Amino acid sequence: MSAEPTARPASPRQRVDARVVTTRAALQVGLREHGAGSARVALVPTMGALHAGHVALFDEARTRGDVLVVSIFVNPMQFGPSEDLAAYPRSLDADLEICDENGVDLVFAPDLDTVYPGGLPQVTIEPGAVATILDGASRPGHFRGVLTVVAKLFGLVQPAIAVFGEKDYQQLVLIRRMAADLCLATEIVGGETVRDPDGLALSSRNRYLSAADRASALALSRALRAGQAAGAGGPDDVLVAAGAVLAVEPGLAVDYLALRATDLGEAPETGDARLLVAARVGTTRLIDNVAVRLQDRRLSSAMQP
Ligand code: PAF
Repeated sequence: MSAEPTARPASPRQRVDARVVTTRAALQVGLREHGAGSARVALVPTMGALHAGHVALFDEARTRGDVLVVSIFVNPMQFGPSEDLAAYPRSLDADLEICDENGVDLVFAPDLDTVYPGGLPQVTIEPGAVATILDGASRPGHFRGVLTVVAKLFGLVQPAIAVFGEKDYQQLVLIRRMAADLCLATEIVGGETVRDPDGLALSSRNRYLSAADRASALALSRALRAGQAAGAGGPDDVLVAAGAVLAVEPGLAVDYLALRATDLGEAPETGDARLLVAARVGTTRLIDNVAVRLQDRRLSSAMQP
């Protein structure tokens, strides 16, 4: 890491000493020095514990912007009282190394007082109805915390583009909705979920999994693939196929398996939809989702040879 500004890498992912800033004032200096204003700033907000899924988001952001800014901040406002805030993995040195190796120009790693001077804000973002279903039903207040911190990061960094993983699909839908409803100037981009070769979606929480937990966790992606493959039969077939995989995995406590529209409204009978799952494996809560193409059952049986 260097305290001095550095030139952008000539090629993607070239190693560069990312500049690390922790205060609002240093962030503004860093942004100015990287030409923010005329240059398009692309922001990837993270809570650290970076892995290849984050690196894929950096790659996506780098293709769309001129300056790549990554924020690292474990946001207490999005954790419930019984959730894993204290235990959430923190690995700043390793994270900064990953940023260096992947062409990040500026890392904003603020402390709590920098983001929430004077304590939690009185004015927060009310995320609306979509935040009451799926993860929102199990984690009350979670999306208010997410949207509020994302709005604050947008205010501080003023990015032209911000990239969020599709792995947290409900979060992505809600951030898109916030940007549209509040006329924010930031373009919201979704980055595809990165998976281990065995299918497990990468997540900072995977590091909590024992070998046995990990074997159980694979049922999530297996179930989603089974549901996706059943799309030609219509919505019921998708849920039956995915549910059958989950039902025979004793190591999972399933929170939800749901088929929804791509904007998380009611699932359509045909066309594009999203299949989402959440389950507890041991003490770790995991989520995953895939796109599903639903076909008209009559049409697909008519097309059978
Ligand atoms: O997805 C995350 O890591 C967090 O929810 C985010 C968007 C950085 C807000 O804290």
